[in-house]
Amino acid sequence: MAGSAARGADDADQYVGAEKCKNCHAAPSKGDLYGVWTKSKHAKAYAMLASEEAKKIAKDKGIADPQQDKACAQCHVTAFDAPTAMKGKKFDPTQGVQCESCHGPSGKHVKARLDAEETPEDKVVELPKGERGGPPSAEVCIKCHNEKSPNYKPFDYKKFIKEIAHLDPRRKHPADYLDKLGESGGKPEEKK
Ligand code: HEC
Ligand code: HEC
Ligand code: HEC
Ligand code: HEC
Repeated sequence: MAGSAARGADDADQYVGAEKCKNCHAAPSKGDLYGVWTKSKHAKAYAMLASEEAKKIAKDKGIADPQQDKACAQCHVTAFDAPTAMKGKKFDPTQGVQCESCHGPSGKHVKARLDAEETPEDKVVELPKGERGGPPSAEVCIKCHNEKSPNYKPFDYKKFIKEIAHLDPRRKHPADYLDKLGESGGKPEEKK
């Protein structure tokens, strides 16, 4: 099913959209992960489908509206193919490749955090096992970064995760964190 290869994903969960994540992942003291994402190409991937370049590619393929056609939107829009029941009421497809394209549908995580007791902002909360997967592995990226993309650039997980890095400074990751994550293809715990 579309999107469900993301780690920690659950078909009974819902895509709720990046606006929801903003409430808790946008504070500067937490690395403003939401702000980093809004400046990335992923956040503009839907808009990109309205560009002259996109229209030209689409025209050559006989596609009338790339923003509405699965042939393009399946990789430029989060959960394009997912059933309506899997999308929250406020989910906004025009926000492009959102957090949940990589982290999986997150309705349950949002609800669990809203229901939880408030903690001081400088404290990293230890989430119960199973509420979230770890970082998305290379397989998650390759669902879109593959040769079916008309603009395919060879995908390099180690290099590309650095380009989209959004680290929470409170976690005090070691300096080589992204290198190690990159070398393991996003599965650090499976590498011995
Ligand atoms: C009500 C607050 C809240 C909301 C809303 C929220 N989160 Fe979180 N999230 C947390 C907390 C708390 C943690 C644990 C780490 C920390 O303290 O920041 C966390 C951790 C995470 C992690 C890291 C998990 C790990 O590997 O350790 C990811 C990924 C994540 N959230 C994604 C999302 C996404 C995607 C959304 C929006 C759909 C979202 N969150 C919305 C509070 C929230
Ligand atoms: C749902 C599809 C999708 C997934 C999943 C996805 N991407 Fe992307 N990515 C895109 C699209 C589409 C673009 C181009 C957006 C644009 O230019 O408008 C892009 C662009 C990028 C760029 C910018 C490339 C450039 O030319 O500057 C980087 C870096 C990147 N992605 C890294 C990743 C990484 C790392 C992962 C996995 C952790 C990932 N992406 C997962 C669809 C996806
Ligand atoms: C299999 C996934 C996939 C499909 C299908 C797809 N794209 Fe993309 N698109 C991407 C990715 C990923 C990138 C970023 C380039 C890269 O790193 O490969 C991208 C980049 C782009 C860009 C920006 C190129 C640049 O110069 O940065 C345009 C325009 C675009 N796509 C248009 C389209 C159109 C139009 C269609 C439909 C005919 C389409 N794409 C179908 C994944 C896809
Ligand atoms: C293109 C895929 C992709 C998108 C989109 C994306 N993430 Fe991530 N996320 C990753 C990867 C890869 C990592 C591990 C590397 C890193 O932290 O930059 C990660 C790590 C995280 C972490 C843990 C940070 C830490 O310091 O360990 C949180 C929390 C998180 N993401 C939340 C979000 C939120 C919220 C959004 C949207 C506003 C988002 N992510 C969008 C791929 C993505």
